[in-house]
Amino acid sequence: MIKRKPLLILLLNLIFYVNVNTATTQNYIPIKDDFDRSGIPKNILLGSYVGGRSHVKPMLDVVAILIERGYNVTLLASGRYEPSSEYPGLNQITLGPRLGVKELRRTITYEEHYKRFSRFIEISRNGYKETYEKYKKAAIEYNIDLFFCDVLGNDACIDIANNLKKPVVVWSSGLQLTDPVPYKNDPLYGCNISLENESFFERFRCALIQPLQIAYTMGRIGPPAHQLNNIRELMNINTSSGQMPKVSLSLVDTFFGFELPQPLPPNVQEVGPVLSKEYPPLTPELSNFINTHKRVLYVAFGTRFITNTENNNKILQSFVEAINRKIVDGVVWPLIETSKDNFYPTLKLTDGTQMQTLPILNNKHPHIHITKFVPQFAVLNHTNTKLFFSHGGAGSTHESLYTGTPMLVLPLGGDQMGNSQKLKSAGVALTLNELALDVSDILNKMSILLEDEKIKKNIKKMEVLTKINSRRKYRAADLIEYILHSSGLEEYVNDDFLKEWAPAPSRMGFIKANNLDVYGALLGIFLTLIGGIAFKLFKLISNSSSIKIKSKKA
Ligand SMILES: *[C@@H]1O[C@H](CO)[C@@H](O)[C@H](O)[C@H]1NC(C)=O
Ligand SMILES: *[C@@H]1O[C@H](CO)[C@@H](O)[C@H](O)[C@H]1NC(C)=O
Ligand SMILES: *[C@@H]1O[C@H](CO)[C@@H](O)[C@H](O)[C@H]1NC(C)=O
Ligand SMILES: *[C@@H]1O[C@H](CO)[C@@H](O)[C@H](O)[C@H]1NC(C)=O
Ligand SMILES: *[C@@H]1O[C@H](CO)[C@@H](O)[C@H](O)[C@H]1NC(C)=O
Repeated sequence: MIKRKPLLILLLNLIFYVNVNTATTQNYIPIKDDFDRSGIPKNILLGSYVGGRSHVKPMLDVVAILIERGYNVTLLASGRYEPSSEYPGLNQITLGPRLGVKELRRTITYEEHYKRFSRFIEISRNGYKETYEKYKKAAIEYNIDLFFCDVLGNDACIDIANNLKKPVVVWSSGLQLTDPVPYKNDPLYGCNISLENESFFERFRCALIQPLQIAYTMGRIGPPAHQLNNIRELMNINTSSGQMPKVSLSLVDTFFGFELPQPLPPNVQEVGPVLSKEYPPLTPELSNFINTHKRVLYVAFGTRFITNTENNNKILQSFVEAINRKIVDGVVWPLIETSKDNFYPTLKLTDGTQMQTLPILNNKHPHIHITKFVPQFAVLNHTNTKLFFSHGGAGSTHESLYTGTPMLVLPLGGDQMGNSQKLKSAGVALTLNELALDVSDILNKMSILLEDEKIKKNIKKMEVLTKINSRRKYRAADLIEYILHSSGLEEYVNDDFLKEWAPAPSRMGFIKANNLDVYGALLGIFLTLIGGIAFKLFKLISNSSSIKIKSKKA
């Protein structure tokens, strides 16, 4: 034992010596981790039924990497993506006019959100035939090799890929649409995000009643799912066995810490949060405003949703009062969909004073900066921006967490209710209810968000998570490239395609995959043994009793 030690040290010294020696005498050659792209098909179609900047942007940030690597990408979405100059080399065609926001102007209850969502799905299905034809035309015209489909309302995109026998990668901003599990849910389906601590009755409602109600709502206002299958049949479109269409890969723009944990199948991969490589700088005007205020509240409700006049007034009133009470010293509010007509002419403050709204909206208030558009990331990243009053859209949420800005969330629709619950459970946000907006509640929550030590700690943690995970968009691009490479020169038809991602159970069947036959055999052996012993015992007992009887008789 004692003798070995010096020998070991000697050996280590030798290794060290050799290493140091080579390092000083030779130049290391960097390892090239790039691969040969010459045989890989090049044409990618990015399809989004919903379209719009907030929806398509993260997908574009992924394909921008692919464009740089030499792929041809065509965007097929509702409306037009502006400014398209942000993504040079992108070919753009339109599915039709931008989806209207009219439907989103009405304030609705928490319970009604699933109806709105069902209705949206119905509208998309009513337009299925037309959408499918547009995808088909583009697919043939641009000789598409891979379909990259936004999952929302976009059955046609997935179907065309399957029918042309091309790989399809789907994109979603949450797991609820692509990989639902029984212990999680979403307000889009009428339930809270976590069912962990809900009562038996709530879980009963979410597991059994809600799906029926959704099916009923859809059936009443448009063709239900089976009718979609009828349309498919008429158009000679196959889905794989009438179930979820076959998807090669599902990319999800979310990350642990934000999304509630759940195990994922190998071909469902989290790649978020996806953020752009660059962002526009502050305008001189904005820069001046934010530099001269030390505690700025930034307010924005996205490009799609708005709330009602009553709420707009309450929100504006809360800003005036927050400044008066020195909770914040400046407010930046881009009014995008909301117009100046969506306010009452006067504000009545808590202390009874009246104020005209129009001068505030025309930037006469020295500490409230109203504008049409702001470079959001630049505002959030400014050290003086301390709080974000947001609708809780996925993009805004990611930018806020990335820049370590706590959030006051007023969800208005879509995935925003779910996001707001996730942010609240991560301890980085407080939420408001559109139907019960209250100025003193808003002020109270602003103070908590700005002061609370626990929130500050949580926001630091989330900032790290957001930053390290934001590098995964390169992984997303790599995976898409791999699928193209793997479908390669062969057609996307054989069963071996992406076999490396298919766990054995899908081929073994439920019984074998869970070793139920093995346990069955064990149970058989056990029962046989017990049976044997019981039989022996029974015979022994009956023998002995017959002996007894015999002996009695004797
Ligand atoms: C990419 O698109 C351009 C313009 O449509 C076309 O000229 C070029 O051949 C395409 N490249 C490939 C590899 O298909
Ligand atoms: C649809 O499925 C049928 C039967 O599985 C098959 O014969 C047919 O070729 C498929 N059509 C397309 C377009 O893939
Ligand atoms: C959702 O959770 C909140 C608490 O976070 C609770 O007050 C509310 O009743 C729940 N809503 C439903 C529909 O279960
Ligand atoms: C449910 O309750 C347990 C125990 O109190 C707690 O640890 C957990 O965080 C709760 N889950 C949610 C989603 O609130
Ligand atoms: C955010 O602003 C800080 C300065 O406050 C700067 O150092 C940093 O690079 C900015 N972040 C990004 C992503 O540009």
